[in-house]
Amino acid sequence: TAIHRADYTAPAYWIDTVELVFDLDPAKTRVLNKMRLRRNGDVAPQALRLDGEELNLARVLVNGQGTSFKMDGNQLVLENLPEGPDAFDLEIFTTCNPAKNTKLMGLYVSNDSFFTQCEAEGFRRITYFLDRPDVMASYTVTLRADKAKYPVLLSNGNLVEEGELEDGRHFAKWVDPHKKPCYLFALVAGQLVAREQRIRSRAGKDHLLQVFVRPGDLDKTEHAMNSLMASVAWDEARFGLPLDLERFMIVATSDFNMGAMENKGLNIFNTKYVLANQATATDADFSNIESVVGHEYFHNWTGNRVTCQDWFQLSLKEGLTVFRDQEFSQDLAGSPSARAVKRIEDVRVLRTAQFPEDAGPMAHPVRPDSYIEINNFYTVTIYEKGAEVVRMMQTLVGRDGFAQGMKLYFERHDGQAVTCDDFAQAIADANPQSDLARLLPQFKRWYSQAGTPRLHASGQYDAAARTYTLSLTQSCAPTPGQALKDPFVIPVNLGLLDAQGQALPLQLAHWAQAETGTRTFVLTEASETLTFVNVDSAPVPSILRDFSAPVVLDYAYTDTELLTLLAHDSDPFNRWEAGQRLALARALKAIQGDSDLAQTPVLDDAYLDAMRQVLADPTLDAAFKELVLTLPSETYLAEQLDVVDPQRIHAVREAMREQLATALQTQWQQAWEDNRDTGGYRPDPVSSGRRALAGLALTQLCVAARRSGDTVWPGKAFQRFKDAANMTDRFNALSALVISGHELAAPALSRFHALFKNEALVIDKWFSLQAGAPDHGGHVLPAVRQLMTHPDFNLRNPNRARSVIFSYCSANPGAFHRSDAAGYVFWADRVIELDAINPQVAARLARALDRWKKLAEPYRSAAREAIARVAAKADLSNDVREVVTRALAD
Ligand code: ARG
Ligand code: ZN
Repeated sequence: TAIHRADYTAPAYWIDTVELVFDLDPAKTRVLNKMRLRRNGDVAPQALRLDGEELNLARVLVNGQGTSFKMDGNQLVLENLPEGPDAFDLEIFTTCNPAKNTKLMGLYVSNDSFFTQCEAEGFRRITYFLDRPDVMASYTVTLRADKAKYPVLLSNGNLVEEGELEDGRHFAKWVDPHKKPCYLFALVAGQLVAREQRIRSRAGKDHLLQVFVRPGDLDKTEHAMNSLMASVAWDEARFGLPLDLERFMIVATSDFNMGAMENKGLNIFNTKYVLANQATATDADFSNIESVVGHEYFHNWTGNRVTCQDWFQLSLKEGLTVFRDQEFSQDLAGSPSARAVKRIEDVRVLRTAQFPEDAGPMAHPVRPDSYIEINNFYTVTIYEKGAEVVRMMQTLVGRDGFAQGMKLYFERHDGQAVTCDDFAQAIADANPQSDLARLLPQFKRWYSQAGTPRLHASGQYDAAARTYTLSLTQSCAPTPGQALKDPFVIPVNLGLLDAQGQALPLQLAHWAQAETGTRTFVLTEASETLTFVNVDSAPVPSILRDFSAPVVLDYAYTDTELLTLLAHDSDPFNRWEAGQRLALARALKAIQGDSDLAQTPVLDDAYLDAMRQVLADPTLDAAFKELVLTLPSETYLAEQLDVVDPQRIHAVREAMREQLATALQTQWQQAWEDNRDTGGYRPDPVSSGRRALAGLALTQLCVAARRSGDTVWPGKAFQRFKDAANMTDRFNALSALVISGHELAAPALSRFHALFKNEALVIDKWFSLQAGAPDHGGHVLPAVRQLMTHPDFNLRNPNRARSVIFSYCSANPGAFHRSDAAGYVFWADRVIELDAINPQVAARLARALDRWKKLAEPYRSAAREAIARVAAKADLSNDVREVVTRALAD
């Protein structure tokens, strides 16, 4: 049944303190939970209803006495509690089975260690509780376990006592100095080792930072520790937010549903976002680790000190914290060009993952109004679109104004559980003269209306009057449950160029003087017109610079205009965007036509020349070139079409890739020669950009070789694969062979496996590369089935399941969408199979067919049939049920 935001009521009881004692045992862990509660005087007297799931209840005492209670579904109901405002003690004793906990929510065992995951509603799988974020308590936690098997015992806060017990057991007692909602509770127990670092803050406080991993992984923790130190320093410098704990711990586990979790003082991470050294991790891994370590650390203020009133407010902490981690990575990147590269990468994620979500059956506002399973709402909309909403606020109040707003937010709400309204209000109130303050109620439509707005722009130059008129019109298509949308507040960053690419001054009629550079125009109406005066020549508009709003921009750019922007725009984002638009126009034309791709080239000389120039331009960074030279993804192309033929899209994009490879061979060779050697490994933006470009060049040279039958480049790639001094270069070389479909791919893959058989994260890459490989005559699906029988495959491990199944179903459209429907049959079988083990992971996989209604026949009917088969299963989890029900709704 659905839960509605409008139904929120304050809790009937508060829990002030919690004392937990754990006797840890894989098959039967005993949990003693002593709470001090009091009635919430603001709410009518009523029974206490505590959430619990898969618990064995042994004892309930109120003020030390036995009491009557009943069960109502999963809730423990206590009706005869002391009346009046005084606090009382409630003691609950339960047991649970962490070894059998394959959902990885609550307390579970991974590689013989204990871990917890409580967000969103996992604490109820540990003990009976008011499992909601607006109930904040002080925690004291005692862990008891066998000392030989579990030498390290961790929980939130400070270690206040430890010692020996009988029978080879020991204990540790932890006190968290900060009140917290139960979703931030954590414990860890096992054989772990730590990298430690002592730091002194700007304010002169000393802190201990620790990164815990399994013995043997310590040599892969340096980067995570560096990222953590950089995060602490950054939050203090940029927002004045210090570390508020003596000890801050990160623990890595290889069984984890998501990326990581910001438990107070005890972050628990997927190993994928902690472990890295140059031999096992790529540049992308290093950069993800920096982001995720930053993200979880930044939650310490945005999420933990100020938390969410209810789960509908999830983006209050997630959107804001993604914004903060994006800003962190940009600030660390340093140069304007490196900042732009990060921005382009972030926008690419938004447009390839969030825009489809916003246009599909799971579309929801940044602040949803209802849900069935909250775990289904840890989405790119809540996270990435939520971050864009925060970014627009910063654009509207300025960087300093935004910092002021953050300051006011913490002055008002530190220690509270609040709403998205409270956040927006604080930013606006700190900037009373701003457009945000003026437009706040309308601005907040970004929180309440789902769907991606389209911004339609058209320009008119009047040479005689020397005016340029830019008309802006916004619209937003219906989404489930929201037929009509009101206009959004859209900040449009704008600049004008002349035909030679020089910046033109901007002047509206009522302005005293002209401005140069970028100006932000705030669109609030459905349609508005800007008339610029004193315009000497027909301008090329550079609209939505730095992607100033999460919208689709429609402007009928000519090729000439796009070539001007690509070559000259001062805004690197729009330079890149111009290149993408040039490629997109050609791709769409070929996809919608029915030409024989072997006869009719998709790319023309104008485009190829432009790309040649970009590659050869000595003023551009390698990282930027690599982004420009990467074609729009198949998923992005599909989103631009009303009817999607995945095979045609795949064929066109492959043809484009091949043409680009062949026509630019000289430049690819030069790019390879210039960038193949980046010296001693450092994962900085400049050298990782050079490795990325060298990698793309090598792939393109192998693709061109496939065409010509030449064996030199595949041979070089194989050599590179063998000799590479870091994983980035090695994996890029391996990918070049796999992507170009060369016969050397097979020996390289088996060699790769042999080299890294003991490195789980590298073996994930090995699986993923094969499951995501370009399809040659339908070979990928049988290969995927074969991979699932490999001794290293394990469906219970989320990273491994994702590396094979998701890489195929969600990241390889050309191989997944088969005309014989076998891809969909495989998908349905895996959704059902996974659902019995881990509903959260299953529900993510279920979303692979979100966009089925756009598919051309025979794909569409086959996809519907597969979804219907899943939906027909009687005992589905809420997670999967919600996804497939919405997919089938009209
Ligand atoms: N709050 C975590 C983060 O974004 C994500 C935890 C989500 N976990 C879940 N089971 N839904 O950093
Ligand atoms: Zn988060």
